[in-house]
Amino acid sequence: MTAAAPAELAAVPPAAKPSRRQIWSLGGGKGGIGKSLLAASLGYQLARSGRRVVLVDADLGGSNLHTCLGLEMPALTLGDFLQRRVERIEDVLVDTGVPGLRLVSGASDFLAAANIKHVQKVRILNRLRGLDVDVVLLDLGAGSSFNIIDFFLISDVSLLTVIPEPTSIENGYRFIKSALYRRLRGVAGNETVRQLVDSALDAKNEAGIRTPLDLLRVVAERHPDAEADMRREVATFHPRFVVNQVRDEADQRVGHQLVAACARHLGVRSSYVGYVPYEDAVWRAVRRRRLFMAEAAESRAAEHIRRLTGALLQGETLPLPWA
Ligand SMILES: Nc1ncnc2c1ncn2[C@@H]1O[C@H](COP(=O)(O)OP(=O)(O)OP(=O)(O)O)[C@@H](O)[C@H]1O
Ligand SMILES: [Mg+2]
Repeated sequence: MTAAAPAELAAVPPAAKPSRRQIWSLGGGKGGIGKSLLAASLGYQLARSGRRVVLVDADLGGSNLHTCLGLEMPALTLGDFLQRRVERIEDVLVDTGVPGLRLVSGASDFLAAANIKHVQKVRILNRLRGLDVDVVLLDLGAGSSFNIIDFFLISDVSLLTVIPEPTSIENGYRFIKSALYRRLRGVAGNETVRQLVDSALDAKNEAGIRTPLDLLRVVAERHPDAEADMRREVATFHPRFVVNQVRDEADQRVGHQLVAACARHLGVRSSYVGYVPYEDAVWRAVRRRRLFMAEAAESRAAEHIRRLTGALLQGETLPLPWA
């Protein structure tokens, strides 16, 4: 991955201050990179900053967010809501012991939930949007299935975690690319254009489309009516990267490299909002089943989470290394 010229990295609009309800989501494409840990930590810090927060374990197949919060598996989970054992999503909210921070636990007792149907997804989202809180923060779990990407795309703040390893970086980039194609598909307007978007996902497609930018060119030639909507989808997509488990300066730069790659190859304006160092205090807290932010408040990792939360609330991004 090469660095893009600064002009390509136009500023991403700030996340609106959560004066209204907002949905934030945290995905990553890959397993075991710290999504749940960061979700719990961000949720904690948002609550400490005076926001009313509901953390949602949307990792429906492998839920364990409660453990990062130092809690036992709650008796009622999203599975009970999905299976209509309870009617209201409020009924599966549990207190975390941190003022202002509540949890909707995942649905590990209901494995089919990992492949929930569209109507169930819409039901969850509508109910979450209706909660009387400032921020609903979704821990999306691993992978880039449509369910995960759809939760990512409906969010007001879409965060993508990567760690500085090639597999995670590739997955993170591919996650953004899949999410972009999903957005483009959503505004295709008719079946012919939709099929063209789908064909673009096949690397050997007949139109020779290799990137979303190629796709836009082909749409402009063949279906000019659809072009404006698609260009708007690209222009309004603003994913935000967080790099976790940073050990040195080269690791810190991974976020900038991803932003540059998204601009250059996808035409997407993303931003790099912060990084969290790799620290023994983090895994030690998890091993003791404690909330890391409370357990190791003095650690560098905790300090970075506080900075990251402040930056997200203010809409700041990390200064570019060449700025
Ligand atoms: N900054 C860090 N420093 C040290 N260890 C870390 C850090 N971040 C995460 N870890 C370790 O990585 C483990 C995995 O983190 P976590 O469970 O949050 O990953 P995940 O991406 O949610 O995984 P899954 O995809 O399985 O849900 C943690 O239990 C912790 O031990
Ligand atoms: Mg997790």
